[in-house]
Amino acid sequence: MKDHYYFDNASTSFPKAPGVAEAMAFYLTEVGGNMGRGDYAPAYDAAARALEVRDALCRRFGGPQDRNVLFTPGCTYSLNTVLKGLLRPGDRVAASVMEHNAVLRPLAQLERAGVEVVWLPCDGRGVLDLSRAEELLTPDLRLCVLTHASNVCGALQPVAQVGRLCRKRDILFCVDAAQSAGTVPLHMGELGIDALALPAHKGLLGPQGLGALLLTDALAGALEPLVSGGTGSQSDLTEMPPFLPDRFEAGTLNLPGIYGLGAALDWWEAQDGAALRRREQKLTGHLIARLREMEPDGLRVLGPLDPEEQVGVVSVDFPGLDNAEAAFRLEREFHIQCRCGLHCAPLAHKALGTFPQGTVRFSVGPFTPFEDIDYLQAAVCAVMGV
Ligand SMILES: Cc1ncc(COP(=O)(O)O)c(C=O)c1O
Repeated sequence: MKDHYYFDNASTSFPKAPGVAEAMAFYLTEVGGNMGRGDYAPAYDAAARALEVRDALCRRFGGPQDRNVLFTPGCTYSLNTVLKGLLRPGDRVAASVMEHNAVLRPLAQLERAGVEVVWLPCDGRGVLDLSRAEELLTPDLRLCVLTHASNVCGALQPVAQVGRLCRKRDILFCVDAAQSAGTVPLHMGELGIDALALPAHKGLLGPQGLGALLLTDALAGALEPLVSGGTGSQSDLTEMPPFLPDRFEAGTLNLPGIYGLGAALDWWEAQDGAALRRREQKLTGHLIARLREMEPDGLRVLGPLDPEEQVGVVSVDFPGLDNAEAAFRLEREFHIQCRCGLHCAPLAHKALGTFPQGTVRFSVGPFTPFEDIDYLQAAVCAVMGV
């Protein structure tokens, strides 16, 4: 038995990409200057590196240009920036029932302020019902927000089709790529996305405390800054500067995080991305197949159950056993690290039929060994007593 078997990459990836920790230490010990707030070489170096990282994100996710890539403290913050910066009382917004609380809770706040939310239903596998979406996405909507991949069951949503519908009906389109940014190819321009929110610390294998928000000019032009403060630019103005990215980047940025994310993106650029996605699909297929062997004993395995239609996140519901107790025993007896509960997505469990008990979630990453999945299956059997 190893010290630990990490199956919680949907919470945060571990280990990180090679070079991430070193790049963060390099900034802290060798660079040290604050970008836009110092007229000396290390401050310029930090600014140049931040620009390179914006540029790498822009290329990777098909953004309009590097200035349209904002750094934020995380994906939650990116999503709040869009929702609270755009929506006003009387506006209508559509969201799927698979959304994370990073979307559900800002929407609940906005509903109290007079914004109307239209819920897009999903089937029992956690996939958006496209024909209902076609009916519900009416041209009077200001915005549609959709998670690209479910953090509960891994289901990939039809973002291309929804993007086309939004374009036709002149609805702004925001995608939460928290669970897909990394192995799943994503191109804002090709998919008709106006706002793409992502964290550094999940599939991209970067550090916590940093995220990005990629915006089209159309969406950026309609957005009020969520937070205002110093930007190191146009300091004579009492308002935030009108230009990107400064308009939405108040306060000192997370430079150690930006150096870390830069190293992660360099690592990704040196890899064969398609091969890594194929490996993730193989691992996911293996995980699904091994877990489904216990279906005759009552284990419910949730989601599309097809690696082509999902990311490496699979949830199960244990029969006749509290899911929290199952997860506790997996850790205590078998050193398996996974997550149980509602995973911050209560409506998703209503769609999947696992509310209120929640699920035990297993999520793989690029460094998960295949043999760990066989070990996991044996441990799940032992916990079930089969
Ligand atoms: C689908 C989804 N959206 C948003 C988030 C929020 O990401 P963060 O906690 O990094 O801000 C998560 C995190 O688990 C997520 O899974």
